[in-house]
Amino acid sequence: MKGIILAGGSATRLFPLSKAISKQIMPIYDKPMIYYPLSTLMLAGIREVLVISTPRDLPMFRELLCGGEQLGMKFEYIIQGKPNGLAEAFILGEKFLNGEDAALVLGDNIFYGQGFSSMLKEASESVAKCGACIFGYFVKDPRAYGVVEFDAAGKVVSLEEKPAEPKSNYAVPGLYFYDNTVCQKARSLKPSTRGELEITDLNRLYLEEQSLKVALFGRGFAWLDTGNADSMLDASNFVETIQKRQGFYISCIEEIAWRNRWISTQQLQALGESLNKTDYGMYLLELCK
Ligand code: DAU
Repeated sequence: MKGIILAGGSATRLFPLSKAISKQIMPIYDKPMIYYPLSTLMLAGIREVLVISTPRDLPMFRELLCGGEQLGMKFEYIIQGKPNGLAEAFILGEKFLNGEDAALVLGDNIFYGQGFSSMLKEASESVAKCGACIFGYFVKDPRAYGVVEFDAAGKVVSLEEKPAEPKSNYAVPGLYFYDNTVCQKARSLKPSTRGELEITDLNRLYLEEQSLKVALFGRGFAWLDTGNADSMLDASNFVETIQKRQGFYISCIEEIAWRNRWISTQQLQALGESLNKTDYGMYLLELCK
């Protein structure tokens, strides 16, 4: 399975912050936002990742993440000329995927909670059997999201994008696992009334084929949004609180690469030393002891 991070868009809701730089490069506490979705793919065991962003912002992601060798991974980069919708990731990424199954994560989605790695492994393994696996997360107001409706037996009955009158409180987070029919399905989509190739329409194709699984995150799980200044500050405060309390870093990509045995302790040490005695660098060096 290969991974895609969609980190484009114009983030107009964050102006003037995002007028000159990408939202997904901005800090969530002590790391660039993209570290969080990247760590999600890494926890799913995915080593080959395509980063999609705008012509303006892509060079910055390339400078930040390079070719991926430093993490025992491989990164590729491709431009999305216009924000034509999330499902366009599979048209742009078709050559990169080269017939493999795919996981897509949005560059502004942050996930954190116990049992996440095993849920990810289950999701990536399940696509071979069921076609697609997406997630549901209970929120107070789901109107800004894709919304999934279940029947009394827990079976998925509908999916709607940003409904004015949601049929449930279950929002669909920006993390999707698909089998290798996803590119062909994405190519068959027509733009919605807002002119986008909608991920919800893509998911509906799997639902119609009865090949969509929806796994639910529980109450103790955090799925954080970073769409505006308030939610970015909330996410930063959340990360700071947990990290300071426990001493473990959230979404430390170097640590995950090391724990996955994709890099050696010597490589981790070199990464730590290259970070100039910052807290982050010292954390990596502590892991090597
Ligand atoms: O966050 C989860 C939600 O993400 C889902 O529940 C929705 O079903 C899904 O449509 C999406 O809704 P958003 O309103 O958050 O989508 P937005 O247009 O804000 O795009 C999400 C991120 O993807 C954002 O950081 C910008 C980036 N993006 C978006 C589009 C449309 C791209 O890189 N390219 C695009 O073409």
